[in-house]
Amino acid sequence: MSEVRAALVGACGRMGQMIVRRIMATEGITVAAAFDLLNVGKDVGEVAGIGKIDVPVSDPAELGPVLRESGTEVLLDFTVAAATAANAPVAAAAGVNLIIGTTGLSAEQKAAIVDSVTRNNVAAVVSSNYSIGVGAFFKLCRDAARYLGPDYDVEIVEAHHNQKKDAPSGTALTAADIVREELGGKEYVYGRSGVCPRGKEIGIHSIRGGDIVGDHTVMFIGNSERIEVRHQAHSREVFVGGAVMAAQWVVRQKKGVVYEMSDVLAG
Ligand SMILES: NC(=O)c1ccc[n+]([C@@H]2O[C@H](COP(=O)([O-])OP(=O)(O)OC[C@H]3O[C@@H](n4cnc5c(N)ncnc54)[C@H](O)[C@@H]3O)[C@@H](O)[C@H]2O)c1
Repeated sequence: MSEVRAALVGACGRMGQMIVRRIMATEGITVAAAFDLLNVGKDVGEVAGIGKIDVPVSDPAELGPVLRESGTEVLLDFTVAAATAANAPVAAAAGVNLIIGTTGLSAEQKAAIVDSVTRNNVAAVVSSNYSIGVGAFFKLCRDAARYLGPDYDVEIVEAHHNQKKDAPSGTALTAADIVREELGGKEYVYGRSGVCPRGKEIGIHSIRGGDIVGDHTVMFIGNSERIEVRHQAHSREVFVGGAVMAAQWVVRQKKGVVYEMSDVLAG
């Protein structure tokens, strides 16, 4: 089987550099192109600390032509929401499948990405969390919500490093959406201060500090007891491995569909 040709946007970021290293160490997939606002013209292997791989960092303004010239089959995007919203339709129009890891996308930005995937008949995975274990975490959240019902108060606490741009995390919002799907009708309340009596809401709280990779706790709080479902990522490697797995998977899937990480894990 030939190697999957992958490109990265945000190739010089924390996730991007790790993904470059992981792809180059993985059989069956290679880095065909790289894009970032930083280090344009430099070799992306050198930026990622693994030495020259003869793939320059390209200007994102050249996304469409470089994707076509490099024969890229799948683009992994770990940047910021505005960049992903601009880049995903360009890549889809070039016939390139997508792995979107960027968080903080608005509902409109997500809808536009879905539209470009279906219109251009490519496949995509969009996930706020590419770790393997978070699939189990989401399932446990759903099961707990279904089992305990609407009388338990739900509070979500997430913690991340001090460089994270968006809050709350995409994973916290996905967990909230799952609980709301099961229990219906709950508003989201982001932090609290002042006079704020608790209603039928889901409280969502963000902690930012140091080098925390990503902690999520969903609390189901009743009278006299509390159940907590918790996921803690110890290293970004867990997202990197899942994203590369998704990239190798998505090129073989039915086109015109936006998949979730649970689909990748189901095989
Ligand atoms: N889904 C997941 O599993 C997962 C895991 C970790 C991080 N993330 C998300 O991935 C994103 C990136 O995280 P990070 O920690 O690597 O951030 P980072 O700030 O270290 O890296 C982002 C990179 O994107 C580049 N960039 C910004 N705008 C760009 C543009 N218009 N075109 C091209 N490149 C551009 C920056 O120069 C930078 O190199 C964030 O949204 C984060 O929340 C998702």
